Formats: sequence, C-alpha cells, structure tokens
Amino acid sequence: MSEHTHHGKRDGFSSAFGVLAATLGSAVGLGNIWKFPTLTGANGGASFLLVYLMATLLVGLPVMIAEISMGRKAKANPVSALIALAPARQPWWLIGAAGMLASFLILSFYSEVVAWVFAYVLKALSGSILTSDRTVTEAAFGALISDPVQSLVWQWVVLAFMGGILLMGVAKGIEALTKKLMPLLFLLLVLLCAVSLSLDKAADGLAFLFNPDFSKLTAGVALTALGLAFFKLSIGMGTMMTYGSYFRDDQDIPGTAFRVMCADLCVSMLAGIAIFPAVFTFGFEPAAGPALVFITIPAVFSQIPMGQVLMTVFFVLTAIAATGATLSLMEVPVLILQERFALSRRKATALTLALLAVSGSLCALTNSTLSGFKLFGLNLFDLFDFVSSNLILPAGGIFIALFAGWVWGFDRFSQALSNDGQLRNGALARVVFFLLRYVSPLLILIVMLKGLKVF
Ligand code: PFF
Repeated sequence: MSEHTHHGKRDGFSSAFGVLAATLGSAVGLGNIWKFPTLTGANGGASFLLVYLMATLLVGLPVMIAEISMGRKAKANPVSALIALAPARQPWWLIGAAGMLASFLILSFYSEVVAWVFAYVLKALSGSILTSDRTVTEAAFGALISDPVQSLVWQWVVLAFMGGILLMGVAKGIEALTKKLMPLLFLLLVLLCAVSLSLDKAADGLAFLFNPDFSKLTAGVALTALGLAFFKLSIGMGTMMTYGSYFRDDQDIPGTAFRVMCADLCVSMLAGIAIFPAVFTFGFEPAAGPALVFITIPAVFSQIPMGQVLMTVFFVLTAIAATGATLSLMEVPVLILQERFALSRRKATALTLALLAVSGSLCALTNSTLSGFKLFGLNLFDLFDFVSSNLILPAGGIFIALFAGWVWGFDRFSQALSNDGQLRNGALARVVFFLLRYVSPLLILIVMLKGLKVF
C-alpha cells in the first residue's frame, strides 16, 4: 500500500495474507511476551488465565469483528468513521476521541518497554546477562530502569525508529516486517518452551499456569483480565477500526479476526510456558511485576548451547513484534490528525512523536527521577496502564458493541460484515450479533463496576 493522502482516496491492504499479517502485527507484541506473563504471574496464574480466555471469546472476538466492520464500512479514521456511521448529532465519535487519548497513554509506557527490549539486545549480545543467577539478572534490569539517562535515551531511539518507519507508509513498514519474521519468533518460543519444560520444577510452573486456584480471583483481578483481552487484541480504542478502514470489501472479517485471536493466544501461551517453569525452577517470584520477563528469559537461555546468540535473536524478534504493535497504536492519532485536522502525514507523525516524547518521559522516569511520585496510589507507568487498559478500552468496547447491536441492528451489521454483499455464514453472524447486542456490553459493565468497587 502506498502512502495515503487525506483527500479521501485510500488504498487497501494488498492481499488476504497482507490483511491477516497486518492485523496480527498489531495484536502480537509486548502484550504477549511481557504483559501476559507479568499479569498472569501477579494475579494468581490459572484462574486469571481462565477469565482472560473467557473475556477474549465472549467479548474480545465479537468486539473485534464489530470494530473492523465499522472501519471498513466508513473507510476513515475512528472519529470521522463514527460521525459518518452514526445518526446525526449522536456523539458516538467520542469513542474515537477517547481512543486517541488511550493511544497516547498506552504508547507512553509501551514505548518504554520497547526501549528496555532494545537495550536488552545489546545486553544479550555482550553476554553479561546470560545466567540463571537471579542477583545478576535482577541487578542488570534494576540498573537499566533506575538510570534516567538510559531510560530516556532508549525511549527516544524507539520513537525515532517508529517515526522513520511510519513515514515510509503503512504497508511497506508493517506487512513486510511482520510477514517475514513472525514465524521465526514463534519457532524460537517453541524452542524456549522445550527448554523450560525440561527444567527441574517445570511441573510447578505448569500447575501455576493451568491448575486454577479460585481463591485468588477477585473482582479487581477479573477487570485486569478483561483489560488484557482488550489490550491484546488492540480493540476498544479505534485501532482495529483504523485497520478495518484499509480492508478491501472482499476480505473476510470474521475469519481474519478469528485467526488473529487464535494465533495471538498461541503466542501468549508459548510465552507463559517458556517463563513459568523457569520462574519456579530458579526461584524467581511470579509476582515480580514488569521485571519478570527480563530477569527470567536470560535464565532460560543460559541453559542451552549458543544461548548468547539465540537470546540476542530473541530480543531482536521481540523488538520487531513490538514495532508492529507500536506502529498500529500510532496510526490512530496520526490518521485522526491527518484526516480531521488536514495535516500532512509527515506533520501528523512529527506532532504525535513530539507529544509522545513528553508523555512518554513521565513513564520512562517512573523508576528514577519520578520514583516518589504517585497518583491514586499508582506510579505514572502503572496509572497510564490502568486508565487505558482497565477503563478506556473496556468502556470503548461497551459502546462499540452497543453501536453494532442497537444503532446498526442485524441487517446493517451483517451487511457491513459480508464480503462484496455476500454473507458467508449467516448463523455465525447471528451469534456474534447476539453477543454484541446483549452479552458483551453487560459483561463488560458488570466486571467494570465490580472491579472498580462501584457496588
Ligand atoms: N496488542 C498489542 C500487544 O499485545 O502488544 C498492544 C496494542 C496495540 C494495544 C495496539 C492496543 C492497540 F491499539
């Protein structure tokens, strides 16, 4: 796809595989490799995983299908799309505006985690962290995040890198990278799982991941699991609407969404199976928080021949997966600025990056200069994550589901979903529609109200 202009003529993704690769490129990222293990470890393991799986199926998948359909129907950024699709004077476009805010909040901390991954490419290459000695891996991570200069400079490197790719145009940047390298990351994760499963206390790790202890399941944990389902599939904030706007009319939306969901779950499960057996074998703490993956992965690689090379490759591939997700996050504000404020793509990208350099630094400095600063009991890194994943995305999901279920109704929904006017699977469309109309909005609402202790 070539660079699109703001005059309305838009190109589509070039092929069915391009659509799948690009959508997958948005979904798969640090959410799988970093956030999923971190949250699963911090929230009790299997019971959290179970709620996350249910949220993905009952809420995530239908909302994803609705969001992509809305984007393809309107062929515009989320704000313009919702203005065009909604009845006159109804403010559904606020979903897009909230999405733009969520995008900045997520990018602010996400870009910092990408920064850690970039820094770890060099650390892995140097061999200095290739050990299962937790004092060494913990010290290495601690030194990185508590150094304000390194934290900021690596984040700027990440932002400059993303800006460069974004200016080259969506397809060239995302499709090409994703297509070639995703399978390699997958293979490396499979290898890591094999290594991890051969460790002494692998069984304890598997039990933690698959044997639920429901006493650990609180309403707050359920909200976190729901938030993760949204974050993982890049939904609730207009990202998938934006990607949907590049889908062609003959491309299969439910099929693509289903495949993306399955592949995404597979990658997360592999990451979990690679991490937790090692956590238990080497005596790490499952609830170590954001450090967990960065201190455990080196321990796993220290067990195999060529560990140094393979770990370097692992962090490079993780950086690339994170790049696809970051670009899709940036696409929301960039496209809104481009299409609604008539900025050139270059200017929209530069403005987004400049704003991010400011809001991102608040997260980059969370563990150093700003370490004493808390709002609502959370540091800014965690606060930005909480507000975006646990509030804005699920709320966006409620309204996307309500829009498809009640404003559109079945006829318009199924028409938006169909390929060149032909509905492939009517029964499936009805099930998805039923979920969107009744189940998803209610479930999200209840989990949010309970999780936030409103009642
Ligand atoms: N889904 C991405 C991940 O799991 O890493 C993160 C993400 C991308 C969230 C795009 C939201 C979004 F709009």
